Amino acid sequence: MTGDSPQRDGTPGLRPDRPAAASDQPARPGLHSLTAGRGMLFGGDYNPEQWPEEVWVEDVALMRAAHVNLVTVGVFSWARIEPEPGTRDFGWLDRVLDLLHDGGIAVDLATPTASPPPWLGHRWPETLPVDESGHRLYYGARNQWCPSSPIYRERALALVTDLADRYADHPALAMWHVGNEYGQVCHCDDTAAAFRGWLRERYGDLATLNEAWGTTFWSQHYGQWDEILTPRRAPYLRNPTQMLDFQRFCSDALLAHYRAERDILRRRTPSVPVTTNFMGFFKPVDYWAWAPHEDVVANDWYPFPGDPRSPVRAALTHDLMRGLAGGGPWMLLEQATDGVNWQKHNLPKPAGQFRLESLQAVARGADGLCYFQWRASRFGAERYHAAMVPHAGADTRLHTRVREHGAELRRLAPLVGQPVPARVALVHDWQSWWACESDGRPSDRLLVTDQLLRFYEPLWRRGVTVDLVPPGAELSGYRLVVVPNLFLLSDATAESLTSYVRDGGVLLVGPFSGVADPLGHIHTGRFPAPLREVLGASGEAWLPVADDPPLRCRWIADAEQRGDADAPAGTVPDPSPTGVEFTATIWSELMRAESARPVATFLDGDLAGAPAVLRNEFGTGRAWYLATVPQEAAMVALTDRVLADAAVTGVLPDLPDGVEAVRRGDTLFLLNHGAGPARVTLTEPAGELLTGDRVEGALTLAPRDVVVLKPLA
Ligand code: GAL
Ligand code: ZN
Repeated sequence: MTGDSPQRDGTPGLRPDRPAAASDQPARPGLHSLTAGRGMLFGGDYNPEQWPEEVWVEDVALMRAAHVNLVTVGVFSWARIEPEPGTRDFGWLDRVLDLLHDGGIAVDLATPTASPPPWLGHRWPETLPVDESGHRLYYGARNQWCPSSPIYRERALALVTDLADRYADHPALAMWHVGNEYGQVCHCDDTAAAFRGWLRERYGDLATLNEAWGTTFWSQHYGQWDEILTPRRAPYLRNPTQMLDFQRFCSDALLAHYRAERDILRRRTPSVPVTTNFMGFFKPVDYWAWAPHEDVVANDWYPFPGDPRSPVRAALTHDLMRGLAGGGPWMLLEQATDGVNWQKHNLPKPAGQFRLESLQAVARGADGLCYFQWRASRFGAERYHAAMVPHAGADTRLHTRVREHGAELRRLAPLVGQPVPARVALVHDWQSWWACESDGRPSDRLLVTDQLLRFYEPLWRRGVTVDLVPPGAELSGYRLVVVPNLFLLSDATAESLTSYVRDGGVLLVGPFSGVADPLGHIHTGRFPAPLREVLGASGEAWLPVADDPPLRCRWIADAEQRGDADAPAGTVPDPSPTGVEFTATIWSELMRAESARPVATFLDGDLAGAPAVLRNEFGTGRAWYLATVPQEAAMVALTDRVLADAAVTGVLPDLPDGVEAVRRGDTLFLLNHGAGPARVTLTEPAGELLTGDRVEGALTLAPRDVVVLKPLA
């Protein structure tokens, strides 16, 4: 995700609006309608409005040579189509679509509503967004629209209607792309009025709202609806429930706009799928609430070349997309062939890097691999952003690699639609994320996405595939459920986790979970109140950890736990292979074991002797609780013990460091993210899909290489 728009660090969201039951709705077309007959989708954002028409002809020829079969057109073309209010200039777009169609290239046609022309903000300044300080943001960049502006809405929908009418029957039209990377936040008066409407629906009356927001605190009582504002900039910490509700509202308001455009498109073209591009773990928008409204789940993914954790973040993000797609295929709609332009120091990608990233997405369920953008812009704010055709043209190393990648993707057509099986679920919730990271909390170092990564990374290293699921998801098919952080926990979710363990599941819960109710009010009594029974443990204080002196912990040996040094090994494997002690960082909790047994205890300070890791036998399952943030090696050791409890193993034993292993259908992907060659021993002979070679025994992967192995019958 880029850092260009103010809304990216904004707020917002809403509870999943469940999709209508299959019986009252005709089935929606999905990604299959695009991949059928085309195989893996390959292409990029195409912005022909930036180029003279001669270049379009060359573009189509080059696209064909590179095996491009899908391009996204028109994302930023509002001013080109409607140069003055109410006019329409579709002629150029007709020619672009005809040319692409003649070249056999399908079109993901965008509604150009992400960037209104200057005339909209000039004539109707109230359509421009206002930041939390009350400052208006102007045109001259992009995204300058207010999600609650009736004028913006009217103008956008009128254009979408005409676009849909114009191209409904165009043979190039394969998918609709609504807007771009939704994330706008506004604090204007229209938004305040819409927020009040949303609150009236949620709470009914002011007394209920006052109670929900806890307005007896700091004299915040509201006597009239009109007094309520969006959480604008204020002298000191703002009301956390007001902030949380505003985050919910913002995600909802954007979704309402997306749905309004989508409904117009669906009415006119019921068999054409509709999508918009997500941005991975993008905080302001609750993608669990959005996903049921998408026909195709699509993501934009821009890893930082200098970040050693990029491959793990990528895997986690791709697994989220697969989860949002209900386990089905999804597509990568934007990525970069090389450096981007929106970081301070834009590192390039070494040879093989974009291919490795692209194939990683395929391994984790993507059926489409597209880039931003096809041809590098000569002008405008993104003229230094990498593309599939660089400024230097097609006779370049980069474009040659693009072509080669397009060609090899054709060999992966048999994988289209194949599932990615997982026995482990990782729970993530946007609402809890918003609530957990409110201002004025015990530590701003305990971040939800960091926690997700800390729990995910050891599983990734072991080649254990993980599904990302929302709270309340059906868990019975999983052997292990991991909850890195669910600060905000409803009774229903607590009950679903509890019965999952009662019925034999293995659960691993991270710290600062089960703390608050859906209003963000803290549960009183020993914590985590809603999970106390299943965890067999309870706590009384959250204690952020100083950097120095270190807070040490110690694994407790099996035999020691049973108080019987001679007994045979039990179900808990031996203590950490990495050593008996480990260091706790960032966070600790004063816990007490009830029916649970301590698996590790704190050694230092006030916490000396208190449990740091606990394990509880409950029903026919087991629940683990982690009352701190252990350093990395201890997370690996803990994960190994929990995996052993759940009888889950990776797709390949003994994976070398940096090698990612994941199975899609029956095909095994091995991806070497490491800096050196890696030797991997296979368990069965296989055919390599990209080269056609037969491989058996051990093989060596060069850095950034990928092998795709189909077992030989
Ligand atoms: C995306 C955006 C594209 C382009 C790209 C650059 O966030 O959707 O339009 O700006 O970033 O990396
Ligand atoms: Zn506004």
